[in-house]
Amino acid sequence: MNEIFEAVKTSARRIQHAIISEDSGYSQNQNQSGEDQLKLDILSDQIIEEELRKVPSIKTISSEEKEGYQHLNDSGVYTVCYDPLDGSSLIDVNLSVGSIFGIYEGEPKGENIVASCYVVYGPRVEAVFAQKESDEVQMIRLHEDAFIDVKTINLEPKGVINASGATQQNWPAHHKAMIEQMFEEGYILRYSGGMVPDLHQILLKGGGLFSYPATSDKPEGKLRMLFEVFPFALIFEKAGGRAVEGTKDVLSLSPRHPHDTTPCFFGSDSEIERVVATYGDR
Ligand code: F6P
Repeated sequence: MNEIFEAVKTSARRIQHAIISEDSGYSQNQNQSGEDQLKLDILSDQIIEEELRKVPSIKTISSEEKEGYQHLNDSGVYTVCYDPLDGSSLIDVNLSVGSIFGIYEGEPKGENIVASCYVVYGPRVEAVFAQKESDEVQMIRLHEDAFIDVKTINLEPKGVINASGATQQNWPAHHKAMIEQMFEEGYILRYSGGMVPDLHQILLKGGGLFSYPATSDKPEGKLRMLFEVFPFALIFEKAGGRAVEGTKDVLSLSPRHPHDTTPCFFGSDSEIERVVATYGDR
């Protein structure tokens, strides 16, 4: 596993360099989800693939920017599913973006995730790692050319942040009522539109709720299970929080297709209990 984490760190240094020095415009292409690709989406994908190809323990990789799986090593054991540059449409307004990695053993699905990590490219570059077999969620930071240990991350039982995603006009009534009730109780809105910095903020500020519900225009949500939702679910669980799709833990889900999405809610215990009660009551 360490060699995968080292490949992530090398990719992160290269992507950070690309973000500050390369053209941030759009390419002529679209990704598998029909979204316009930035030149940086394509470049970040190439960088990560190049670095993961050097790791013998990886059997297969799958990128959010491509269709299907690519076979790397017969003797490998892991499948790495990654989103090379999540939230990349925020680059032109200079907000933070990130890379997300889910590492699976066996068929890629929630219960087979064995490790995950993400990198935030903000004013500083930080990365967070979790493994199924360990209860420590470790954060590191790029200092000049090397990553240094910063701290372990632990969520409080209840937070103050309410990061509510998706177009409000399309929210179901029970979801709208829950979010409004939270604001009435004193929760504060913090939402950039980048999953990585939005969840990083909740993890570092002790807790709260990030929600991306099913909506009338996106009944299966927007965020992809393998590339975005499962990796963060492992990190939240290991940090002492939870991740659900409404009532069930997201890690109990299995995608039929690598790009399948799910509604999702990440948070500390108190906020997730509220989500389960709200969604269970319907
Ligand atoms: O997956 C793409 C993404 O940019 C996430 O990083 C983010 O959480 C989400 O979309 C934001 O979507 P919306 O603008 O619909 O709230």
